[in-house]
Amino acid sequence: MREKLQRIQAEARKRIQESDGLDKLNEVRVAFLGKKGELTAVLKGMKDVAAEERPKVGQWVNETRAELEELLEETKKKLEAAALEQKLKEEVIDVTLPAKKMEVGHRHPNTIALEEVERIFIGMGYEVVEGPEVEYDLYNFEKLNIPEGHPAKDEQDTFYINKNIVLRTQTSPVQARVMEEGKLPIRMIAPGRVFRSDEVDATHSPSFHQIEGLVIDKHITFADLKGTLEEFAKELFGSETKTKFRPHHFPFTEPSAEVDVSCFKCGGKGCRFCKGSGWIEILGCGMVHPHVLEMCGIDPEEYTGFAFGVGLERIALLKYEIDDMRLLYENDTRFLRQF
Ligand code: DAH
Repeated sequence: MREKLQRIQAEARKRIQESDGLDKLNEVRVAFLGKKGELTAVLKGMKDVAAEERPKVGQWVNETRAELEELLEETKKKLEAAALEQKLKEEVIDVTLPAKKMEVGHRHPNTIALEEVERIFIGMGYEVVEGPEVEYDLYNFEKLNIPEGHPAKDEQDTFYINKNIVLRTQTSPVQARVMEEGKLPIRMIAPGRVFRSDEVDATHSPSFHQIEGLVIDKHITFADLKGTLEEFAKELFGSETKTKFRPHHFPFTEPSAEVDVSCFKCGGKGCRFCKGSGWIEILGCGMVHPHVLEMCGIDPEEYTGFAFGVGLERIALLKYEIDDMRLLYENDTRFLRQF
């Protein structure tokens, strides 16, 4: 019996030492100490040992078992340490690698330009209001004196949701909405997105932005309109800026005008930027048509007012000297970071 145990022990030792991984080591443990293991088998066979021999044999078995368990435990620790070391070696961090950059966004030139326009008008006591992008035909056209059959209502120019609802083609419907609320006087600007059925090119997009302006009060005249817009142009493009009002037609204003500013690039001498004319067109404006006031519940005998509409992209393109509108919609951070 003694020899048998010594043989088992020697065999186990050898196999433990040969184990090159935790899995292998566990196999050895099962093979000798497990339920069906060799040493366990010896214990199970104790009933065949002569009674007087049993205590001694039992002691040997226990000693062998204790010794093997100790050896298994020691080897397990060594293998675990080796495995950890190996893992650390493989996962070593190269501190010389360039760090991952945190890409922080940048304010869009449209946003910068809008905030500038808002700052100027808020400084003159205007309120900033908003209207819906999906608008009733009634507000987008009818109440602005644009009746059935007007070319602006053509399907070529307008995105129709149905006969009565459109994607607004201008921010002017906000004028009608604010006037209808009936709180007078009014000094407001209304920035927002507008939609037209246009092909994309360097100066057109089916979706762009406008800033509407509206003032309604007693005794408002064309002189107020001129003074306001001259001041606006100077604040926006520099104090040297001159302003020119050209007669024009808009259905909802009478009289109407288009406003040009002296080219801030050449000061009016004529350059590539202003196409040689010395002037750059920036907005449309006029005195609110009496019929529009009436349709919106305001007495044109008591109140008068002026309105204007500016293209936001146009301002951004001019201010930052960008020559292609498409750049504004691509959201390429290399482009946006410049402003
Ligand atoms: N809504 C006009 C357009 O989109 C621009 C405009 C012109 C607005 C004259 C106005 C205005 O308020 O008075 O072409």
